[in-house]
Amino acid sequence: MEFTHAISRIMHEEHMAVLALLDKLEHLLSANLGAEPPDATAGDVRQLLGTIKAEITTEIKLHFAFEEEHLFPMFEEAGAGDMNNILIQEHQLLMPLGLGLADMAGQAASDGFDADSWVQFRTSSGQFIDGLRAHVAKEEMGMVPLLDDLIDQDQDSNLVANYKFS
Ligand SMILES: [Fe+2]
Ligand SMILES: [Fe+2]
Repeated sequence: MEFTHAISRIMHEEHMAVLALLDKLEHLLSANLGAEPPDATAGDVRQLLGTIKAEITTEIKLHFAFEEEHLFPMFEEAGAGDMNNILIQEHQLLMPLGLGLADMAGQAASDGFDADSWVQFRTSSGQFIDGLRAHVAKEEMGMVPLLDDLIDQDQDSNLVANYKFS
């Protein structure tokens, strides 16, 4: 989809980046379906766990906060409060789940997984992947096109200036 405004493109690109990360996480799970956990302290797995922790605690957190502080109030004013309520509820479920997952990923990258921590990581990852994919799909279908329609050039510049670059 082509977007007119820079902020719509930024949100869209971040959604695509997070979906790519979720695919990698899903691949880690599907490549280790047996009882034995993967060696989390070395190589690609360690690197992926570090990326997951960093992305959740910085990029995803900032992205959610920006939507809540700068986009949802604008949609509320435009009469799209119902959509906001659903998206906010999803943020409220996904952020604690994600932060828990980030902690587990960080711990595993330094100490490795044991049987229990691997099961817990797998369960939380599955919930996070499913929940965040569904959330991004909703935003891509409803929120990002609405944003692109709603704002003018000045608002776009303000939103970009408020996002990470402020
Ligand atoms: Fe969101
Ligand atoms: Fe989003």
